[in-house]
Amino acid sequence: MKARDRLIVALDVPSVETARDLVKRIGDAATFYKIGYQLAYAGGLALTRELVDQGKQVFLDLKLHDIGNTVEKGAASVAKSGAMFLTVHAYPQTMKAAVAGTGSSGLRILAVTVLTSYDDNDLAEAGYRLNVRDLAARRAAQAKEAGIDGLVCSPEEAAALRRIVGSGMLLVTPGIRPAGSATGDQKRIMTPAKAIAAGADYLVVGRPVTEAADPKAAAASIVADIESAREG
Ligand code: C5P
Repeated sequence: MKARDRLIVALDVPSVETARDLVKRIGDAATFYKIGYQLAYAGGLALTRELVDQGKQVFLDLKLHDIGNTVEKGAASVAKSGAMFLTVHAYPQTMKAAVAGTGSSGLRILAVTVLTSYDDNDLAEAGYRLNVRDLAARRAAQAKEAGIDGLVCSPEEAAALRRIVGSGMLLVTPGIRPAGSATGDQKRIMTPAKAIAAGADYLVVGRPVTEAADPKAAAASIVADIESAREG
C-alpha cells in the first residue's frame, strides 16, 4: 500500500459545502476521508457516493450499537453506499451483526474497543468491572473472534493490540500530530512516523490538515512522514 493511501483525513466540518471545498483544496494529496457525526447529520452521508465517484475512499465513523437485527440491516445499507470502513462499538452481538450485514460487499467493519475519553472511573461509573486496559484487550480478542476487519485505537495502544489480534487485522489510529503542531484536546498523541512504526495501518488526522492554512501541503507533509517510517 502507498504511504498516501494510509492517511485518512477527518472531515470534521459543519456542512457539505465546506467538506467539498476542503476535498478540492487537498486535491490528490489525500485519497481517504472520514465522515463522522457532525458532517453525517448535516447531509454528509450523501457525500459518500460523490467521493467514491471521484475515486476516493470513505470511512463512515458512525459507531453503530443497537440490537443485532438493526445493526445488520444498517451495515447492509452502508455497504451499498460505497464506503470502505464503518465503525461499530465492540460488543460481541453488535460486531457479529455488522459483519453479517456486509455480505459480499467490500465494506470493512472497524470496532471501537473503549472510547479514548473513558478512564477507569468512567467505566466503573457505567457499571463495568474491568479497567480500560483489560476491557480493551478483552474486546480486541472478541473482535477477532467475530471476524471484524480492524480496530480503532490510540497509537499508544497499537503495539499491545497488535500482539492480541495478530497481523490479520487493521489498526486505525487517531490522535496523530505532526511534530510541532497544536495538540488541541488530544492527550495521547504520536507523530505519523511513530504511529506507523508502532504498527498502525491507517492514520486518522483531522485538525492538523483541516485547519491548516494550506491543507494540501499539510497532508503531503504527513504522507512524507509516513513514508519515512516505512523506509526507516
Ligand atoms: O482533529 P483530530 O486530528 O484530533 O481528529 C481526530 C479524529 O479522530 C476526529 O474525527 C475524532 O472524532 C476521531 N477519533 C479520535 N479518537 C478516538 C476515536 C475517533 O480522535 N478514539
